[in-house]
Amino acid sequence: MGLFSRKRAVFGLDVGSSAIKLVRLGKNGKGYALEAFAMVDLPPDAIGEGMIKDPPVVVDAIKEVVDKAGVKSREAVISVSGRELIMKKIQLPKVNPKELGDAILLEAEHHINLPIEEVYLDHQVVGQSPGQGGTMDVMLVAVKKTKINEYVAVVEEAGLSPVVVDVDAFALQNQFEVNNPEMAAEAVALIDIGASIMKTNVVRGGFSIFARDIAFGGNNYTRAISQRLNIPFEKAEAAKRGEEVQGVHWDNLVPSLEAVSRELSLEIQRTFDYFASTAESERISRIMLSGGCAKLPGIDEFLSSSWGIPVEVAKPFQNIQFDPNRFPADDLYATGPLLAVAVGLGFRQEDDKPA
Ligand SMILES: Nc1ncnc2c1ncn2[C@@H]1O[C@H](COP(=O)(O)OP(=O)(O)OP(=O)(O)O)[C@@H](O)[C@H]1O
Ligand SMILES: [Mg+2]
Repeated sequence: MGLFSRKRAVFGLDVGSSAIKLVRLGKNGKGYALEAFAMVDLPPDAIGEGMIKDPPVVVDAIKEVVDKAGVKSREAVISVSGRELIMKKIQLPKVNPKELGDAILLEAEHHINLPIEEVYLDHQVVGQSPGQGGTMDVMLVAVKKTKINEYVAVVEEAGLSPVVVDVDAFALQNQFEVNNPEMAAEAVALIDIGASIMKTNVVRGGFSIFARDIAFGGNNYTRAISQRLNIPFEKAEAAKRGEEVQGVHWDNLVPSLEAVSRELSLEIQRTFDYFASTAESERISRIMLSGGCAKLPGIDEFLSSSWGIPVEVAKPFQNIQFDPNRFPADDLYATGPLLAVAVGLGFRQEDDKPA
């Protein structure tokens, strides 16, 4: 999915709320090969809940990540996320592809509580009843133009050309389809928990059947630790990541980690309830976890025991070739979960159709 695309793109640039990640992939025979990747942390208040609060800081971090990765091309595929994104599966009477755009525009007005001229719309046909007549299912995505423009502006200010604007949840899906083709028949909940936003995309057979972003992430854990232990956010953050922080032991963190994980479980419950209410009788058979929170020790087992289904941590480089001399495998696997969106964006270069 691309809210707009102009030409072939060259690398994935995930402007997350706590860090910017760059992944450049190239075609290698039938598969893909890693050509470059880099990550640069952002200070806590530069981006909050999917809104750019300090553009100059973000611009500098983008320049830095491009330098660090050593990429010379300027064309970037970027993405947005956030609870204000509207992602809805709608049903339309079957129309031919030429009429689809108009049909969606008409229908969109019923589903979007914003003036239609204030949003960018995108869609993907995700199913249809067989034969003539009948209905088709379409995943509708709407994002406020002001939000897209904010992201485009910092990327351009950093000297890049944002050739595609995608949505995190759908980038995750691209990543998943390349790395886990064996799961195509299952209904899998792809859940990326970053610093401030949790993105869920339930996919089956190459299609998204439900997508939702909510405000929840690693910052919830860090804030809880910071408040409980009365230490600054930065210290709480380091301790949570397992770094040594004077006077703070892992055991001190456990009550906060457990309390926030219970909240997380409730949030996932809510998302799954919404999913169930969208008339899909489908049962989610597995959770594929990504984002920095996937690295919290024991989170996969915790969610697995809450839900009684397997929970796996995404391995975005599983089906990507890389030169271990340039990219140590340990580094790639350790950072992997944080790079799921960037990898998904990196795939966009080969398959994009001009708008
Ligand atoms: N080793 C670790 N253990 C626990 N938490 C971690 C670890 N590494 C990173 N995190 C947490 O993961 C979060 C960052 O993850 P990620 O990079 O996926 O988020 P983001 O893309 O910047 O944010 P968002 O997607 O919400 O905009 C932070 O809250 C960070 O504390
Ligand atoms: Mg992210």
